[in-house]
Amino acid sequence: SKGINGLEKVVLRDPRGSVAEVYLYGGHVTSWKNDHGEELLFVSSKAIFKPPKAIRGGIPICFPQFSNLGSLDAHGFARNRFWSIDPDPSPFPTNTSNKVAVDLILRPSEEDMKTWPHSYEYRLRVALGPGGDLTLISRIRNTNSDGKPFSFTFAYHTYFSVSDISEVRVEGLETLDYLDNLQNRKRCTEQGDAITFESEVDKIYLSTPTKIAILDHEKKRTFVIRKDGLPDAVVWNPWDKKSKAMADFGDDEYKHMLCVEAAAIEKPITLKPGEEWRGRQELSAVPSSYCSGQ
Ligand code: BG6
Repeated sequence: SKGINGLEKVVLRDPRGSVAEVYLYGGHVTSWKNDHGEELLFVSSKAIFKPPKAIRGGIPICFPQFSNLGSLDAHGFARNRFWSIDPDPSPFPTNTSNKVAVDLILRPSEEDMKTWPHSYEYRLRVALGPGGDLTLISRIRNTNSDGKPFSFTFAYHTYFSVSDISEVRVEGLETLDYLDNLQNRKRCTEQGDAITFESEVDKIYLSTPTKIAILDHEKKRTFVIRKDGLPDAVVWNPWDKKSKAMADFGDDEYKHMLCVEAAAIEKPITLKPGEEWRGRQELSAVPSSYCSGQ
């Protein structure tokens, strides 16, 4: 169907009521609602749904470069290319048969080959499960015919919607090493307890566990991120000053969002021709005191 500015989008509806929206522009998830109709992702009220700007919020895909770690534009180009519906999604190793899903594909244009001279097939499956969980699976294959390998860094740049950033805690990253983007990527070690927020944060946590939780005290909601193939995790909140500097972000919106990004950054992924990489993230949102089986 048609989304904002006539951009094509795919709506996934689970019979139990949860809904997700995926724009072909960017292969970008822009909405994920639970069965109560509550939006779980943050999208800025000032987001610009217009190429070449990436959509501010939801789940931008950073490929083939995270941030400005190479010669490409920040966060690479996958987030501002038009993806296609994959007419022939080869079977996935992960069983998503109980989910409603869409398969997208991105291949380089001739123009893209000038800035990143590699041929690839990037297949993205977005799947919504019966419990409302949202799974993204990326499969990237090197299709270079010149025998050359390529390397890339990657992130699912997820913007979670939170009630009040000062009431939020992140669990699963305490005591880990991180690179601090606010200090020239200086390597530091996280001290103490769960992570809380009282100023700008922009950190790349290294070799993180496969499960990270975001606890929203006020909403009595916990987001759980489960990831595979993505050893690192970026935590970002721009806070007040940086918010004002972003044209597509409201001055006070930083209070209601938090990015926790499943990523592969410290050790770039290298693929030889014919090789394929997989990176999966599964998001769920549960009430804070939730006992399954009750
Ligand atoms: C984060 C980076 O992942 O994305 C930050 O760590 C960056 O440094 C932020 O500011 C937003 O990036 P952009 O390109 O979407 O404005």
